Amino acid sequence: MKDIITLGIESSCDETSVAVVKNGREVLSNVINSQIKIHEKFGGVVPEIASRNHIEAISGVTEEALEQAKITFDDIDNIACTYGPGLVGALLVGVSYAKGLSYALKKPLTGTNHIEGHIAANYITHKELKPPFLCLIISGGHTHLVHIQDYDKFNIIGRTKDDAIGEAFDKVARVIGLGYPGGPKVDKLAKEGKPTIELPKTHMEGLDFSFSGVKTAIINLHHKNPEINKADLCASFEKYVTDILVENSLKAAEKLGTNIICLAGGVSANSYIRQEFINLQNKGYKIYYPEPILCTDNAAMIASAGYYRYISGVVSNLELNAVPNLKIQN
Ligand code: KG4
Ligand code: ZN
Repeated sequence: MKDIITLGIESSCDETSVAVVKNGREVLSNVINSQIKIHEKFGGVVPEIASRNHIEAISGVTEEALEQAKITFDDIDNIACTYGPGLVGALLVGVSYAKGLSYALKKPLTGTNHIEGHIAANYITHKELKPPFLCLIISGGHTHLVHIQDYDKFNIIGRTKDDAIGEAFDKVARVIGLGYPGGPKVDKLAKEGKPTIELPKTHMEGLDFSFSGVKTAIINLHHKNPEINKADLCASFEKYVTDILVENSLKAAEKLGTNIICLAGGVSANSYIRQEFINLQNKGYKIYYPEPILCTDNAAMIASAGYYRYISGVVSNLELNAVPNLKIQN
């Protein structure tokens, strides 16, 4: 069978990324131009500034992706771009650029869901992984338990009722003065602490999550006692959220009758969360997670998800538009 080369384009938040992926699983290049340094001084992503920087970066990032993959535009079979969810102005840059390329090169265009991209990152790292499986998606914008029935068939069985877990990490980090983006900083500091601080449990029915209560509890503890040990606070916060993630994932796996649990999204780069899931292997679970660079936003995962859409016949046209609150397909 002929190889299929997908050009992936990602611009949903603060990373401009373009990748070249062969047959959905083999990364030939994955160039990521992060704007973290630019947004750092504002304590979070400023949408207007993100869009402007995507516009400035996207052509150069694309050229570099082609060069690293040692291909030209002619070699591309399909162009996959993130069209949602994300920041509308940021998404529009990638969507418009992809549409322009598709029109000029006469190549098919596949609008791709960013969350499906996070799931597909696992296909790149684990060549043998095939649906069905359970996926826990934990990112800056999402906290979902999803039954991946097939490459293009998803069923959300649990979700956060308030904050996404990444938001909680970022907020805790900001309040205790660690800066932005908070997740990696909490991860690092927690290693120096012990989970000795009691945090109030929020009871949720079924497989849903809630993180606003623990976030507020941490903020209050820190305000009441600014001398509180920050490393212990981070370790306690991580343990608290991880216990809930593990508990709900096990309930979900039992409900679906699967022993395969994949992690996806930026927060799945967290070392404590990973370790706690790895420990489940002793209980007979198969645990998968993407390599760190594929956990946070990147275009290789978009190319992979776009490839599976493309081979199942889903192709977009030039009316493709950004959809900031795009849901996972069912
Ligand atoms: O998947 P992602 O890059 O963007 C979204 O689609 O939202 O996730 C970004 C989130 C941020 O909240 C960031 O703080 C968090 O992932 N994150 C981490 C770690 N690395 C990134 N959270 C905890 N521990 C980490 N090591
Ligand atoms: Zn993401």
